[in-house]
Amino acid sequence: MCRSWHIFAVTAAVVLMIAGCGETDESHQALSANPPSEASIKRAYTMKCSLCHGADGKLMASKAPDLSESTMDLESRIALITYGKGTMPPQKGILDAATIRGIAEYIETFRDIK
Ligand code: HEC
Repeated sequence: MCRSWHIFAVTAAVVLMIAGCGETDESHQALSANPPSEASIKRAYTMKCSLCHGADGKLMASKAPDLSESTMDLESRIALITYGKGTMPPQKGILDAATIRGIAEYIETFRDIK
């Protein structure tokens, strides 16, 4: 009798732990849906974009266009960064949508022509 209660208690504890984990996952997703910080956007640009475009957008490595002379609108930039084009790699599934939007806004600060 005592033993089966013990097993029940352990099982209940394990079920609660699993349920608890599920909740943590959800709150984690809610957290990552928060707007990314400026620092994390710049870090993502450095890691994913500066190789070809340079820290100021003007490097033009691997035939990348000079971002300081780009006139592409925001939504087109978001689509281009998400899906890639030519040798420019897509970021879909690598960077989250909020970070992609943040980068698309950030690179506009490289522009000489406003
Ligand atoms: C492997 C090199 C490479 C990397 C890495 C790269 N790009 Fe590009 N990028 C290119 C090339 C090449 C083009 C021209 C694509 C075309 O039109 O065929 C381009 C085009 C662009 C354009 C369009 C400019 C215009 O006005 O035509 C933008 C904006 C841009 N890249 C932003 C980014 C951002 C932001 C990242 C990081 C997420 C990034 N790129 C990563 C090579 C790269």
